[in-house]
Amino acid sequence: MRKQIAAANWKMNLNLQQAIELTNQLVNSDIHLNEEHQVLLAVPFPYLLTVKEMTDNVLGMSVCAQNMASTKNGAFTGEVSGEMLRGMNIEFVIIGHSERREYFHENNDILASKVKLALEYGIKPVFCCGEPLDIRESNEQNSFVEIQLKESLFHLTDNQMKNFIIAYEPIWAIGTGKTATSDQAQEMHAHIRAVIANKYGKEIAETVSILYGGSVKATNAKDIFSKPDVDGGLVGGASLVADEFINIIKSLQ
Ligand code: PGA
Repeated sequence: MRKQIAAANWKMNLNLQQAIELTNQLVNSDIHLNEEHQVLLAVPFPYLLTVKEMTDNVLGMSVCAQNMASTKNGAFTGEVSGEMLRGMNIEFVIIGHSERREYFHENNDILASKVKLALEYGIKPVFCCGEPLDIRESNEQNSFVEIQLKESLFHLTDNQMKNFIIAYEPIWAIGTGKTATSDQAQEMHAHIRAVIANKYGKEIAETVSILYGGSVKATNAKDIFSKPDVDGGLVGGASLVADEFINIIKSLQ
């Protein structure tokens, strides 16, 4: 069975003290994760090791980087490489978040290189896709997301696609308080799975965890996660509040 995943995306928030306090609250909460569950904490680079040490003994909880460089190493001031993350035993990395696409001009080709490099270093990508509002309004979201998947993922081998993690995040729902309905999420997730099945076969497509992201909160998580092709969520704002995120984790199927 594919994993059900609650991933926190802290983005560029929290000072070190606040990060430690939030992690403490999560580690000491009454959540019981089983083998089908995975909690990811995508924290800013400077906090990776601290939060990793704090969560290392919690079954099913792992830290995740929010980004990595598209090149191996060299004169790229300010960048963090896959090799560096690997050296710190970081096992997960978000790739292609819409904020990276929009503000840092990361296109499908760049993201294809990042995905390839991450996997070469044994780091599991959480690959983000999703359409902007005008594309949704013209009802072209399916082909838009399909192109994102094809251009950034279809160089992967069957083995690399097995148990892969994709996050569908409609850009119009991120940080806006406007959530896709659970039916809209299900429709797109089924489409994403069909696109993967077309290329890699149904069996592999069934192993891919597809998370929904965009204004997930404790109050809507259960409804969204109840859909058959929704395997959890990538959570921004609500992941900064311990009680909210704990309830979201408890909403996993
Ligand atoms: P949000 O962010 O939950 O604050 O909408 C989600 C994300 O950007 O991953």
